[in-house]
Amino acid sequence: MTFLGIDLGTSGLRALLVDENGVPIGSTEQHYSVAHPQNGWSEQDPADWIAAFEAAINEMRNSYPAFSDLRGIGVAGHMHGATLLDKSDQVLRPCILWNDQRSHEEAAVLDSTEGVRDLSGNVVFPGFTAPKLQWVRKNEPAIFEQVAKVLLPAAYLNFYLTGDHVADMSDSAGTSWLDVGQRDWSDHLLAAGNMRRDQMPRLVEGSDAAGTLRKDLAQEWGLNNTVTVAGGAGDNAAAACGIGALDEGQGFVSLGTSGVLLAARDGYRPAPETAVHTFCHAVPGRWYQMGVMLSATDSLNWFARITSQTPSDLTSGLGDTLHAPGQVRFLPYLSGERTPHNDAEIKAGFTGLSAGTSRDDLTRAVLEGVAFGLRDNYDALAATDTKLNKIIAIGGGTASRYWLKLIATLLGIPLQLPASSEFGAALGGARLAMIAATGASPESIIISPDIQEEFQPDSRLRNAFEDAYHGFRAAYSGMKKIQ
Ligand code: XUL
Repeated sequence: MTFLGIDLGTSGLRALLVDENGVPIGSTEQHYSVAHPQNGWSEQDPADWIAAFEAAINEMRNSYPAFSDLRGIGVAGHMHGATLLDKSDQVLRPCILWNDQRSHEEAAVLDSTEGVRDLSGNVVFPGFTAPKLQWVRKNEPAIFEQVAKVLLPAAYLNFYLTGDHVADMSDSAGTSWLDVGQRDWSDHLLAAGNMRRDQMPRLVEGSDAAGTLRKDLAQEWGLNNTVTVAGGAGDNAAAACGIGALDEGQGFVSLGTSGVLLAARDGYRPAPETAVHTFCHAVPGRWYQMGVMLSATDSLNWFARITSQTPSDLTSGLGDTLHAPGQVRFLPYLSGERTPHNDAEIKAGFTGLSAGTSRDDLTRAVLEGVAFGLRDNYDALAATDTKLNKIIAIGGGTASRYWLKLIATLLGIPLQLPASSEFGAALGGARLAMIAATGASPESIIISPDIQEEFQPDSRLRNAFEDAYHGFRAAYSGMKKIQ
């Protein structure tokens, strides 16, 4: 038996095939782009996801004979995106993504509407789904009128796979339409956002079956067995499944396009006043909390782009030994910020430049700026009763050992790097597929990976980074005043 995990990410789609013990057999990655039709806008054509998915399936079929014994698929997707379907299930407009800031005014109105924070357990951030639909209602009324279903990216791929409109709890928690404590759509939240229950997909737990693979697809892929499609998950809940974070104290730091610091929770303890996100986990009866910064590797990628370098050229120029913080600070607010500021309009910037500032100094400042942002998230999580003693580091940014040492020092806790690179959201998706298809218990499948290396905080530099962090904190209000 084999299982397929899909990570429908912001910059591309990754497919991972695992055997019946959850051990990776092979993977493939297909890329697509993000359109920015206006400043602060961020969109994708769902047809690009399907094309990438089909290309990934073709490659899997050709490269791995074990694909023919496929029994389950689990999709993880970038969260909050609004894929709007008409009554014939045609996509009405490009999907508006999680890092799109256009609906910040609509978000502020919803956020201050009575009962909204209480029921959704979260701040209504501009990137969430409900304010996007309010924006469409105001600015594209002809489209709004035709909306028969709203699907998150993972649910859209589930729809392609099963022909059914189904979404999992962890992803649906990021819409601001879900009662996150009750794990059900909330009529109050839907009404606040001018939406109806019939426009929502059917809800399932991520580790339950959403349906089975469409017969025509199974035939096209040369499969004879029934293939279960799991509820799947938002990418962060899936990544938590991939690294075995189910219990209190377990969590990860993710250096992806966004930066995430996540802690698994055994109960529902919302704390919207901290701007921490509180969402359902992808398995029943569990939740998680996370701080989200909008531009993590996105900051480094931006700097690489404008200096015509690759991110790894830039970071390898720094060597492996952590330096004390320099004079230059980078405020990583290229797309505004969520935790802790909830500020869609704040802009990024460098401070402390001098005639002698080099490209390496700026690279270091970018890495430090992201690490300071993660420290903001750590402090926000600590303001709830979340405890993290050790965390696993995942995402593309973990290729830089310098960055990992820096983050361990800023957070004051060790970071663990898993031995295999096959972890994170795609593995989490595959694990959800295993549970949904075989009925295995989540605890027996969602286990911790072997650790290759542990990065300890550098105690010699701790005070210097503490001082620099206070400067970083103060720079936010300065930036606010001049923009
Ligand atoms: C989480 C969030 C991002 C995306 C990135 O709330 O918006 O982490 O899920 O894929």
